[in-house]
Amino acid sequence: MSEKKILLSGIQPSGKLCIGNYIGALKNWVNLQDEYESIFLVVDMHALTVKQVPSELRQRCLSFVAQYIACGIDPDENTIVIQSHVPQHAELMWVLNSITYMGELNRMTQFKDKSKQHNKNINVGLFSYPVLMAADILLYQADVVPVGADQKQHLELARELAHRFNHQYSDTFKMPEPFISKTGGRIMSLQDPEKKMSKSDENDNNILGLLDPSDLLIKKIKRAVTDSGTDIVYDQSRPGLANLLGIYAKLSDKSIDKIVAQFEGKMYSHFKADLGELVVETLRPVQEKYSQLMDDKGYLETVLKAGADKSFVHARKTLSKVYRKVGFLLKK
Ligand code: TRP
Repeated sequence: MSEKKILLSGIQPSGKLCIGNYIGALKNWVNLQDEYESIFLVVDMHALTVKQVPSELRQRCLSFVAQYIACGIDPDENTIVIQSHVPQHAELMWVLNSITYMGELNRMTQFKDKSKQHNKNINVGLFSYPVLMAADILLYQADVVPVGADQKQHLELARELAHRFNHQYSDTFKMPEPFISKTGGRIMSLQDPEKKMSKSDENDNNILGLLDPSDLLIKKIKRAVTDSGTDIVYDQSRPGLANLLGIYAKLSDKSIDKIVAQFEGKMYSHFKADLGELVVETLRPVQEKYSQLMDDKGYLETVLKAGADKSFVHARKTLSKVYRKVGFLLKK
């Protein structure tokens, strides 16, 4: 195994990947991939906790893999893997279930939010979602886990479970560290800039999809909610404009101050037109690479086969250790 530390992260294949995922996750993954031995998951088992159309889920998993690669993840240097391809995720989860308290899961804010949102389908999977996530992380002995602020609580549970298991049996799991990117920044919804841009938003006008056609991206930016002001300044009390400035800054790698100076005396419409162009130009190569990849399913399948084979080796090692420690009779 290489000397590099292990980085692990994942995205749920639900909805469609958007500029929020690009800036908040994928772009950072690409920047970190050389420094770490990286594992990037498509967590299809997590996606089952809300209703899915099976044929769409299947297609989306492949599409997400192609989008990871199109955004710059190098599948030769990193591991891209579909969660359900490695059965040890579920197996480790079962063991972790037995050291997780109901009270701990009851406190999870995402569970509370999702229970409200899907109040006709508050299933056990939704409840134990964070335990599966802990299994994802601990299975690979991950050192660092880049996550958004909304996942911090889940990561803390993973750390707590690692500690609890190590203490109850003996040292088994590495303690994963959260990696909250300095440049991360939350990208907000275009029509409702008080809430996060979410790939599962029912209103498509709230998100800039990575695969949206150029004219649609431009139209969505033009229609993004701003305010009745005229000057382009960064002001938290003008969340729509602040969000668009944030997107501009992240995609151009310029500071907000520089952008504000650049647009001094200009109108919102100018700024939005320039931002539209920036988004389109950023996504153009991603979309081109994506269509090439989707035309070569054989290649994507090779990537996934390699990813599953490589992960399986790590996963089996950790799981057999765990099974031995908890007292399971080993199969000969
Ligand atoms: N729960 C994460 C999210 O919704 C996705 C996820 C699943 C994940 N397993 C993970 C993230 C392991 C990091 C590490 O964003």
